[in-house]
Amino acid sequence: MSKITDELIQKMLREALLVREKAYVPYSKFKVGACVCAEDGELFTGCNVENASFRLTNCAETSAICNMIAAGKKRILAILIVGPNITMITPCGACRQVIREFAALDAPIYLCDDTNVLLKTTVAELLPLSFGPEHLPIKKS
Ligand code: THU
Repeated sequence: MSKITDELIQKMLREALLVREKAYVPYSKFKVGACVCAEDGELFTGCNVENASFRLTNCAETSAICNMIAAGKKRILAILIVGPNITMITPCGACRQVIREFAALDAPIYLCDDTNVLLKTTVAELLPLSFGPEHLPIKKS
């Protein structure tokens, strides 16, 4: 599974829009949805989950990736992110690093509004000169 078709991107967007509705955002009111396509084509979604202790907020991208990991998958083929449709949002710095852990440097990251991909980018673009698992002399389990 390596072909990311327009149909797949549209499906990822639909899934991200569905999960965005479930975002827990009593503080920011800023709903974000994300959809990860794992290497075998299975999709995993996540929304942002805020907390009264603000710094404990989980972003949508990280939530989606945690769901992928919990299902036993380790590699991201593509990830799509949709904000509240006022403007295009890009992953925060922490999420860029989390994506970096499980995606190739050239894996596509689709930044969307409610209907379209506004920008296709990559980890390499969003996180240049990044640090990753291969820099550590530890075998991954
Ligand atoms: N947020 C995400 O879910 N992903 C990002 O990449 C940027 C920010 C969330 C966190 C918080 O709940 C809200 O958006 C406002 O920062």
